Amino acid sequence: MTFDEKTNMYYPSEDIIENANVKEYEQLYKYSIENRDAFWAEQAEHLQWYKKWDKVVDESNKPFYKWFAGGKINVVHNAIDRHLATPNRNKLALIWEGENGDVRTYSYHALNREVSKFANILKSMGVKKGEIVTIYMPQIPEQIYAMLACAKIGAVHSVVYGGFSHEALGDRVRDAESRVVVTADGGYRRGKVIDLKSIVNDAIDNCPTVEVVITVKRTAHEVVMVNDRDYWYHDLVSLPIASSVCETEQLDANDPLFLLYTSGSTGKPKGLIHSHGGYSVYTSTTHRMVFDIKPEDRYWCAADPGWITGHSYLVYSPLMNGSTIFIYEGAPNHPYPNRWWSMIEKYGINILYTSPTALRGLMRYGDSWVKKHDLSSLRLLGSVGEAINPETWKWYYSVVGNEKCPIMDTWWQTETGGFMITPLPIIPLKPGSASKPFFGNEIGIVNEHNQEVAAGEEGSLVIKSIWPGLATGIYNDPQKFIDTYWKKYEKEGWYEPGDSAKRDSDGYIWIIGRSDDVIKVSGYRLGTAEVESALVNHPSVVEAAVIPLPHKLKGNAIHAFVILNNGLTGSKELATEIKNHVSKMMGPIAKPEEIIFTDTLPKTRSGKIMRRVLKARALGLDEGDLSTIEE
Ligand code: PRX
Repeated sequence: MTFDEKTNMYYPSEDIIENANVKEYEQLYKYSIENRDAFWAEQAEHLQWYKKWDKVVDESNKPFYKWFAGGKINVVHNAIDRHLATPNRNKLALIWEGENGDVRTYSYHALNREVSKFANILKSMGVKKGEIVTIYMPQIPEQIYAMLACAKIGAVHSVVYGGFSHEALGDRVRDAESRVVVTADGGYRRGKVIDLKSIVNDAIDNCPTVEVVITVKRTAHEVVMVNDRDYWYHDLVSLPIASSVCETEQLDANDPLFLLYTSGSTGKPKGLIHSHGGYSVYTSTTHRMVFDIKPEDRYWCAADPGWITGHSYLVYSPLMNGSTIFIYEGAPNHPYPNRWWSMIEKYGINILYTSPTALRGLMRYGDSWVKKHDLSSLRLLGSVGEAINPETWKWYYSVVGNEKCPIMDTWWQTETGGFMITPLPIIPLKPGSASKPFFGNEIGIVNEHNQEVAAGEEGSLVIKSIWPGLATGIYNDPQKFIDTYWKKYEKEGWYEPGDSAKRDSDGYIWIIGRSDDVIKVSGYRLGTAEVESALVNHPSVVEAAVIPLPHKLKGNAIHAFVILNNGLTGSKELATEIKNHVSKMMGPIAKPEEIIFTDTLPKTRSGKIMRRVLKARALGLDEGDLSTIEE
């Protein structure tokens, strides 16, 4: 890579361009827009189908688009089965390192056996096609087997992030009406055991649909097992029912693969649905093209499978592309801040995909922890979750990537399934810009009259086209899918992501941040309404409003304005108690940074809290138009 001071851009070296899977952007982009269906049909040919589609996309029931309608496929056939007939059979599919130093490796052949055993266990528990299985696990190989096992038999998985509280887990299990939950006795984090099984036990107390809990043993930690409900995985896997042979179910392209709950403007998280066909095509294509995947790559996506990044780019797309994936269980700085770098050296990782917040967390320890290690195996770097600030980008580029690895700053969402705005390794890079639309995507940045804003001006990001990775709905609430993403631009038929952005005169897109009631903390997505209801759930709090304020490590941190019950006065102790209450209700990521006691909150006449006013005040900025303010 070379840096050009005049343009302030970073240019790929000739060998990057020569060896890239995609060697040219503009013409292929033009082709993909003018020939959308042909472009996606060509990409779909990279996968194996039991039966080809009748129609690339059936648009008869907008916005519930059916990609590859009439086609028969299973993501597991593409992620595992088809590799068994090729030399990939004996290639490593996954390398796992536990925080305590345990290492396990599996070839594609071995992965197939493990997933088949898990699938047979699920079948023996009566799991049927279409049934939703909740998975609440640490980052251990069995988490991935459980996901793939569900997909293999046509069941739908709902992975809940292991950092969520029992209330948050319970909400998701109840919404999905899961009968079977898969968990572990615990996982390691900073040398301690996180007791997931107790959290599951507490959650299930209020989940009447749950009949079976399968528990994987990871630690020596004692857990409470309930008779006739709880089964140890190691007991089940030693039974004859757990055969290592299991046929993969031939599914319709639009059969659901998973639900993933995510936060929005309303209090209740919504279960976005992704389906086998379109999702497989979109994630495998973006992964192959943007990360420039080569057969010999060792690829590390450092996200947890509890989030969409883990689903799309840790589990599904790399396995579909036959990569060797690396998975690490624990904290990046345990026992020392060089843990990540030592593993990159030890396993010869070629591609690292992580978040700005993780990078900032490691950057603060200084360069020497990185420089201790030979990271010359790295070829390409990726970033996701929030805009990467140029300082962090430059550190990633020079200290981690040794000025030779392009950085793919990928903008996308749980709803989009895969990368929407992203560089390719062959295009010049601008630190902090997610660059250009991926193939097939028409991106707009519009003002309140739905007109494109001028270069350099801020506007609302919109997606004017449709793409195969788009979620196929919200579980149990089709109307919410319409209202949340398609209502605002109903006439135009555009998708509303809820972000604001700018486009510069070179056509590069710069994401500014959320323009709705969603807060990004350390790259995790939280709804203001969810945090506010957890605050109000505290017996001393009557009303609350939360806002994001810039934070050096987390990107944004939550600042909560609370009104106390009559007669109560705020204190440091009460503030700590309220913070801990939110953490217990929602999980540690939602814990407010600061509690500000107040007597009133700025509201519109219709009673809506004006968070922007609170934010402007806190930052000492202009409060803007106050004409609608009541108090
Ligand atoms: O605001 C954008 C931000 O993350 C939001 C989506 O969050 P989630 O569904 O949790 O998915 C995160 C992982 C894909 C977006 O609306 N976001 C994600 N990636 C970027 C980003 N903001 C700026 N730059 C990015 N690369």
